[in-house]
Amino acid sequence: MRLLHALQPIGLRVHWGELEAKLGRGAEEGCKRLEEGVERGCLGRVARTWFFAAVPLLPAPGMRQDPNCSEFGKRWKSDSQQGRTLKSSELTFGSSVEVQGKLIQSPHKRQNVELAAENICVVGPCDVQAFPLKYKTHHPLDYLRQFPHVRCKTNSLGALLRLRSEATAAIHSFFKDNGYLHVHTPIITSNDCEGAGEIFQVEPANEEREPGENPHFFDVPAFLTVSGQLHLEVIAGAFSKVYTFGPTFRADNSQSRRHLAEFYMVEAELAFAESLQDIMQAMEDLFKKVTDAVLSSCPRDAELFHKHVAPGQEAKVERMLKNQFITMSYTEAIEILKRAHQEFIYKPEWGRDLQSEHERYLVQHCGEIPVFVFNYPYDLKPFYMRDNEDGAQHTVAAVDLLVPGVGELCGGSLREDRPDFLQSRLQRLGLEDTYQWYIDLRRFGSTPHGGFGMGFERYLRCILGVENIKDVIPFPRFSHSCIL
Ligand code: 4AD
Ligand code: MG
Repeated sequence: MRLLHALQPIGLRVHWGELEAKLGRGAEEGCKRLEEGVERGCLGRVARTWFFAAVPLLPAPGMRQDPNCSEFGKRWKSDSQQGRTLKSSELTFGSSVEVQGKLIQSPHKRQNVELAAENICVVGPCDVQAFPLKYKTHHPLDYLRQFPHVRCKTNSLGALLRLRSEATAAIHSFFKDNGYLHVHTPIITSNDCEGAGEIFQVEPANEEREPGENPHFFDVPAFLTVSGQLHLEVIAGAFSKVYTFGPTFRADNSQSRRHLAEFYMVEAELAFAESLQDIMQAMEDLFKKVTDAVLSSCPRDAELFHKHVAPGQEAKVERMLKNQFITMSYTEAIEILKRAHQEFIYKPEWGRDLQSEHERYLVQHCGEIPVFVFNYPYDLKPFYMRDNEDGAQHTVAAVDLLVPGVGELCGGSLREDRPDFLQSRLQRLGLEDTYQWYIDLRRFGSTPHGGFGMGFERYLRCILGVENIKDVIPFPRFSHSCIL
C-alpha cells in the first residue's frame, strides 16, 4: 500500500474516535486521504490506551520530555510551536487533538497502519468527570439517547452516522443509475397528501395581523409535508421516472419504536406504470441494491451492529437479499391471520388496518422473508389510490412491503388516473376544490402511473437490527420530545 511508505510527516486534526475509523483495519481510503493531506477532520474518540498502541512514538529530533509527568505523559512530546509540555492529564478521553507524525506499517493485527506521532497538541480538552461517556464502557443505546449532543462520539453512533451517510449516497446512485430524475419537493405545502390529518401547521411565530387581514401567512393554511408524492406526480407528468428523498413530518401522537414526528422518506414515481408488479419490482430492487452497496462499503460499521447490537442480524439480512420477496393479497393476509394459532390484541377482520402484531406474524409466516401485501380495502386508503373495480369501491391497487423486525417499510400504489373516478371520490370527501389542480393532471396528457415511499429510518433499522427508530437518526423528534 503506497501510503505505508509515506515518509513525509502528515498533520492530523482529530476528535477522539474518528482516528480508529480512519487508520484502523481496512480504512485505506481514509489513510489515503490523510496521506494526501486532505483530511482535516475531527476524530471522535481516541481511547487513551488505544491511542497509545496505535500511535506509538518514534524518537523525533528535539523531542522534549516532562520529567514530572507520568510514564504516559513522558512519552508524548510537547506542542513545540507553543513551547508547552504536554501533560498526561491533558490528553484525556474525549479531547480533540492535533497530531503530526508519519504513517508507518503497524505490527498490530487489527490495523494496517499507525501514525508515529512527533507532535501532539490538545486542541480541545475534555472534562472527563462531567463527560457522560466513559472510557472503556459500553453504553447501551437507550442510555446514549439522553445525550444527543455527545452520542455521535461513540462507536455505535459513529458507525450509524457513517452507514446513514453511505445509504443516502447509495439511494441517490440507485436512482441515478436507473434513469430517475431527482426532484426537490417542497417542505411547506398546502395539502395533506395522506388525508390522515397528522399534519403540523406552519405560521409565523410572531406576526400580528391587521383586523380583516387574511389570518394565514400564505393566505391558505400551510403544513409541513407528510409526503412529496403529489408534487412528484406533477413532475412525473413531464419526466417519466422521478424521485425525492427528504424530511417528512407527521404529527403522530406516538412514542413507538417505529414512529418519528420528523423522518426521512425516499419516494419514487413511475409514469406509465400499469401494474403493481412494476412498483413492487422497483421497491425490491431499491432495497437489495442499496443494502448490497452499504454492506460492502461499510463492512466494519455494519459488523458493529450485526455482532454487538443485534447478533444474528447478518444472516437475517442475507436471507432477505438472497430470496425473492413474497407477495400476497390483503384478503389472503387476513385469512392467514384468522387461521393463526395466536391471540392477537386486535382481532384480524377484513376491512380493518393491519396492526404491527399482524405484520410481524405475516413476516414470520413467510419465513422471515419480506412480503408485499397488495389490494387493500378502498375505505382504508387515501383518495389517490386506483380503484380495482372488483366490486363497489371494494379494493384499491395499494401495496405495502412488510419486513422482518420492522413491519411496514414501504407503502405504494397505482394512482387513480381516471378523472371521473378521481373527481367523484374527491367530491364525496368534500375535497374537489382543494385538489382541482390534481384532477387537472389527469386531463392534460396523463398516463397510468404509480409509486411508493420508503421510510429511511425504518430501512436502517431493518438492515442493522436496531430496535428503536430513535437510535438511527441523529436528532430524533417525537411527541413530547424535541431535544436540541
Ligand atoms: O405508507 P406511507 O404513509 O406512504 C406515503 O406517504 C405515500 N404517499 C408514499 C408514496 O407512495 N409516494 O409512508 C411511506 C413510508 C412508510 O411505509 C414508513 O416506512 C414510513 O414512510 N413512515 C414513517 N417512518 C417513521 N415515522 C413515521 N411516523 C412514519 N410514517 C410513515
Ligand atoms: Mg403506509
